[in-house]
Amino acid sequence: MKIKERIDFLRKELAEHNHSYYVLDTSTISDFEFDKLLHELVKLEDENPEFFDSTSPTQRVGGGVIDGFKTVAHKYRMLSLGNTYSEEDLYDFDTRLHKLTDQEIEYVCELKYDGVSISLTYENGDLTQALTRGDGAQGDDVTANVRTIKSIPLKLKGDYPANFEIRGEIFIPIKGLEKMNKLRTEEGLESYKNPRNTASGSLKLLDANEVSKRPLDCYLYYLLGDNLSTDNHYENLQKAKEWGFKIPNEIAKYNTIDDVLKFTERWDKKRHDLPYEIDGIVIKVNDINLQEEMGFTAKSPRWAISYKFKAEQVSTILNEITYQVGRTGAITPVANLEPVKLAGTTVKRASLHNADQIAKLDIREGDKVYVEKGGEIIPKVVGVELKDRDLFSQSTEYITNCPSCNTELVRKEGDAKHYCPNTEDCLPQIIRKIEHFVSRKSMNIDGLGEEIIEMLAENNFLNNISDIYNLKDYREKLIGLTKYKETNDSSVKYNETLQVKSYALLFAHKPNIFSREVSKIILEYYKELKDINSISELKKVLKSNSILEKVAEDKSKKIVRFITENQIWISRFDNLNQSGLKQYISLLNSIKLLEFSIISKDELEKAIADCNFIDELEKVKDTIFLDGQDRKISDFFIKVSERNKVVLQQKKVENLIKSIDDSKKKIFEKVLFGLGIRHVGETVAKKLAEEVKTIDKLILMSFEEIESINDIGPEIANSLIDYFSKQENIQLINELKESGLNFEFEEKQKDSNIFDGMRFVVSGVFENYSRKELKDIIEVNGGHVTLKIKTKDM
Ligand code: IVH
Repeated sequence: MKIKERIDFLRKELAEHNHSYYVLDTSTISDFEFDKLLHELVKLEDENPEFFDSTSPTQRVGGGVIDGFKTVAHKYRMLSLGNTYSEEDLYDFDTRLHKLTDQEIEYVCELKYDGVSISLTYENGDLTQALTRGDGAQGDDVTANVRTIKSIPLKLKGDYPANFEIRGEIFIPIKGLEKMNKLRTEEGLESYKNPRNTASGSLKLLDANEVSKRPLDCYLYYLLGDNLSTDNHYENLQKAKEWGFKIPNEIAKYNTIDDVLKFTERWDKKRHDLPYEIDGIVIKVNDINLQEEMGFTAKSPRWAISYKFKAEQVSTILNEITYQVGRTGAITPVANLEPVKLAGTTVKRASLHNADQIAKLDIREGDKVYVEKGGEIIPKVVGVELKDRDLFSQSTEYITNCPSCNTELVRKEGDAKHYCPNTEDCLPQIIRKIEHFVSRKSMNIDGLGEEIIEMLAENNFLNNISDIYNLKDYREKLIGLTKYKETNDSSVKYNETLQVKSYALLFAHKPNIFSREVSKIILEYYKELKDINSISELKKVLKSNSILEKVAEDKSKKIVRFITENQIWISRFDNLNQSGLKQYISLLNSIKLLEFSIISKDELEKAIADCNFIDELEKVKDTIFLDGQDRKISDFFIKVSERNKVVLQQKKVENLIKSIDDSKKKIFEKVLFGLGIRHVGETVAKKLAEEVKTIDKLILMSFEEIESINDIGPEIANSLIDYFSKQENIQLINELKESGLNFEFEEKQKDSNIFDGMRFVVSGVFENYSRKELKDIIEVNGGHVTLKIKTKDM
């Protein structure tokens, strides 16, 4: 047999065995035999590189490590689905659709697999591209990683269309995650908790070889293309199954919404028997022509919807209520919970939404609360167990001042949230604004993650969005900047750049009372604070040290309470005598900071006394503990600090500056969205850019003028007027203009006006054009493409 023939035979044979094993779940060859054939193929391919083929089964192991993923535009936008949560919502969906058509509607019900979506392109039967969803318009090219997923065919069989896309969900089966965790535990690595996050993390690994070791699987659920085999969704999926794709059997067709409901009820009960996780049911109109007639809203298809199962609930203790400051200054109260398992993850924090919600449910610190995980990523507190409430529990007093900058909060009429009005100087607001501006959906600047933004903000390189474009002038100063990451790991939290002993004291004694920021302040001033007995005395000291601005009143009260309750203890701590020392050691032990037995108290006393900051650890690093292992203080601290150290390396700085420069090309609507104006989301920004054309015009428009734009309501108009009335915002826009950002809408070049004033519906299959191409041609010649033209309009 000729070499090429043998290679082709082996490729086909191995692909068949893969298909049987990973798609059909039946084994057709022993592992030993399979490996033998694979090795033979690897050898032949190595010796005959001219026969290389990216679809060969040998290509599933992954190549080298890459720097990052290429961003590629989707040929067809990757939309999400509208959600429904009740029977009533589903009836509404059915009614809505029947208003759009007089035809009978056949529904297809599928399970909603809980993983990450993927779009696969096949050309002449070969897998040529795999894109993540990204922002829907463009995604990451993860082809190399996807090739390693054995249930995804690299080469198709049968009568497939020449060009098409197929979309599906990449997930990790429950057993796969368990097996993977077992191996990880054996290697001393942390286990992964949530299959979806693990699947998504795995897909984004930069080493395809690593990906090939992850138990990823893929179900396909949607075909796109101009020459699909049939004009109904169900049959198309069955065809795709014949070509080699993994299409689950749990799909059904129904003629009535009542039957659809029965399907959802059945799977709500049975879903825990499945070998993978699902979070609902997807209901689709089967007839593709009908789908096309019904069309899409800005975000999702009208012809499909997801039905989400009721969220799972658990109870736990609410330890503390803290407050987060968002991008627009909105305050969100957060419940810090006793960690509890919920729907596959450990929940430590939950949203409390706003002051009204806290008041309505009368939520108090120390309460036993019920926590639910709905469609959102962040779980929420949905109720309190009143009968378990502590007799002395105190009702929650909502904060009156910003937890970060202490500015008095405001609450506008009709708005459930409180806001910190200090939009210019409040650090979390600055950080969140920058995060939003650089996000993928806006300017898509790489290398400005939360940690780096914080680092740059803390070092005064970033105080404002426009500072981003000045970073290039500080190249040299940026290289080498260092920050220690915040971490939830208790053994790490107590050291880093902080005064180890004092921090340990505070946290160990009253965990969760103070935020890291407040603890830092107390530490700085605790010598002065410890003689204080009243809030007015405290205020005096705080004022004289100008730190009052940093600590909100309710925090001040807590500080006073803490200081007064712990005076003796603190003074003892200041001057470590024998019993103080013992107490201190037991504290350190209790927070797992040091798990050592101590040789000599003198040595430790000295070590601790000297050990003020991590920079000074040098002085004590050789102190050895008698724990039988001759471990030094440094063994512990240095390890911990290295793990949490973020350093801006030269390459990172260069990449960042390049990405910032590239972002200047972003179109007006992205810039407008990035400004983070309240109520101006992606869709509104696009609409405003298209309708108003320039920022200068938008700035000059009156409330009435803005409101008269289609789809723009009074809330948005008010918010824009408010935004542009502030001098600092105008200045920001001017600075961004000077940096070269786009503040004008770029019209699509028109080819002609021949279709001016005409409306078109594009439907059916065309020999020489795709529907999208036809739509584009109509639009650049002045025409308007609509979904459906009603006869009465004509
Ligand atoms: S169809 C245009 N079918 O759910 C229709 N999606 O928010 C596209 N998903 O991003 C989606 N199982 O990742 C469809 N059987 C299924 C699905 C499914 C899971 C995911 C998908 C999508 C999200 C919808």
